[in-house]
Amino acid sequence: MRKVKKAVIPVAGLGTRFLPATKAMPKEMLTVVDRPVVQYAVDEALEAGIEHIVFVTGRNKHVIEDYFDIQPELLDTLTRSGKHEQLASLNRLQPQPGTISFTRQQAPHGLGHAVWCARDIVGDEPFALLLPDMVSFGEKGCLSGVMDLYEQTGGNVVAVEQCDPMETGSYGIVGKGARVGPGFAITGMVEKPAPEAAPSNYYINGRYVLQPDIFDLLDTQERGAGNEIQLTDAMVRLATSQEFFASPFEGRMFDCGSKDGFIQANVAFALARDDIRGMVLEPIEEMIVSRRRRIQAA
Ligand code: G1P
Repeated sequence: MRKVKKAVIPVAGLGTRFLPATKAMPKEMLTVVDRPVVQYAVDEALEAGIEHIVFVTGRNKHVIEDYFDIQPELLDTLTRSGKHEQLASLNRLQPQPGTISFTRQQAPHGLGHAVWCARDIVGDEPFALLLPDMVSFGEKGCLSGVMDLYEQTGGNVVAVEQCDPMETGSYGIVGKGARVGPGFAITGMVEKPAPEAAPSNYYINGRYVLQPDIFDLLDTQERGAGNEIQLTDAMVRLATSQEFFASPFEGRMFDCGSKDGFIQANVAFALARDDIRGMVLEPIEEMIVSRRRRIQAA
């Protein structure tokens, strides 16, 4: 079985749900506590053993490239002012030269098209895919579970969670087959089905390990849901010749592409941090109590 060394992270989306914040700033640079959303995806990929990250960017996303580069003036200033802790934390996050690539998706044709744009850099090897809007929260990052199952099964693996059966129209949905290790074999996949057409309520939560054969299929993939080139549609075609498995995620995924998910992620990550919990827990509890009182009084 070929090792998964590269991860693709698409960051070309416009982020219209966060206007006006995203008018001049990529949505992937919005912060959850004190780190940009995209940093969480990179950390999760590295934790899972990934060695090289391929970003699929677009116009107005150059800040992401700058973010992952060294900022000599900043490092000098921190050194001179003795801010050793901040310096060490920046150094810890700094990717090694040559371990990150950037390629551009020139027009917003959909997720399938964004992934296809990475084909030359990924080459002929299995790769991981992380959709950075979905921020993984839990003891172990979601991709680690996907990689563990992949090591047992080979083929293609996607992470899944269960959604409200009425919300299948927002996601890629998989059909549940026989149990395999901690996961199950996938019997079918549909992109954004209406509840009555959904094979289950297990939704694809934005983490994948895919074989490179997906690129040839994406080459000829016709537009699907939302008039976009859908990755799930190409996966359905790949599933006619290769196996797909689902890795149920034990933690929790926050959809930071939506306002509610983004705010919940900020609260969850803040409460999980020893240096911040104390500062936010009490005020949040007070806000909740006083809101309840207002509702009861009304
Ligand atoms: C994409 C995928 C979908 C998946 C979702 C997870 O949809 O196409 O299969 O369930 O991400 O966030 P999007 O959110 O880009 O519409």
